[in-house]
Amino acid sequence: MSFCFNFIVDGNPDKGGNTSLINKTEFAAKPSEESGSPAAPLKEAKEHFPPSHPQQLLDDAVYETVSVGALPPLHYLNETVFERTVSEREDAENVLSRTAEQRCDLISGVYEGGLKVWECTYDLLEVIDREGETFGEKTVLDLGCGAGLLGILSLKRGARQVHFQDYNSTVIEQLTVSNVILNCHDDDTDDGKDCKLKKTKDGTLLPKRRALDAASQHLLLSRCKFFSGDWRTFLTLASNQETPLKYDIIMTSETIYNTAYYPALHDTLHKLLAAHGVVYLATKSHYFGVGGGLHLFETFVAQRGIFSLDHLWDGEDGLQRHVVVLRFKKESESH
Ligand SMILES: C[S@@+](CC[C@H](N)C(=O)[O-])C[C@H]1O[C@@H](n2cnc3c(N)ncnc32)[C@H](O)[C@@H]1O
Repeated sequence: MSFCFNFIVDGNPDKGGNTSLINKTEFAAKPSEESGSPAAPLKEAKEHFPPSHPQQLLDDAVYETVSVGALPPLHYLNETVFERTVSEREDAENVLSRTAEQRCDLISGVYEGGLKVWECTYDLLEVIDREGETFGEKTVLDLGCGAGLLGILSLKRGARQVHFQDYNSTVIEQLTVSNVILNCHDDDTDDGKDCKLKKTKDGTLLPKRRALDAASQHLLLSRCKFFSGDWRTFLTLASNQETPLKYDIIMTSETIYNTAYYPALHDTLHKLLAAHGVVYLATKSHYFGVGGGLHLFETFVAQRGIFSLDHLWDGEDGLQRHVVVLRFKKESESH
């Protein structure tokens, strides 16, 4: 699995580097007045409902399994096979065709990278395993979920409600919902023979359709909600619910690569986190080509004065990666 960005300016791929990304903003809002920085993207938030026969999403699905420490195994659609079947999928946003054509990991304001599992997700899974976070009876938001592994973990660990948010409706409809359904089997009741696929060292995967249990599927899905759209309008949608949403735990991985998004991201965390809640955030130190990264985000958070931020894990191999936790400062808890 590769985690490099491809960089295209005006449609010309930069063949020179491997850590850059497309940064062509479309559908942009006005520049943020307070930051003077480029615009944050706008895509009206909406809720998505799983199809009535969700197992059809998994016809001929090929999936992988990630197992981290004592955490339950997590299943997700294989990226390569997913890419190869793009032409057979609904793609109202045109992001599948565009990313396939341009071979890009991200097109700012158009496609925000949710079609693949980014490496900091694995870092956060490891930290969660180590920290012993249990999720039992908690309300959880997987913010910028992409494949949704973090939310799926909390679901399997007994979270009361898990909400998945991604910028792109295509990601939610084609990938996140499918992955949740893939995990709808209680792992203890799996036949445990050859239904779990693991990637071999040379990357080979054997296709296998996963059997589904309608009852357990329904049970788990009833604890989930799915949303697409940008953070600003998602916040409005969440705040306008009959019972405004508040989360005990918000998890977010590889979402601070663009400083233009910080005000909306920060406001979302501020308004949607329960007073006693925690935000687990996994990130690289720096995102080449876009300019965001942990240092700039920490500075932003400090300036806002709402959250304390502590490092849970700092990796030092290659490109530095981190997992941090945000909590309300005592005096800001009342909002
Ligand atoms: C690089 S992907 C990471 C996906 C996933 N968390 C992972 O680690 O594999 C960044 C995610 O952040 C979300 N995102 C980025 N900017 C956003 C914005 N302005 N509004 C809403 N979502 C945004 C997108 O949904 C996208 O899936």
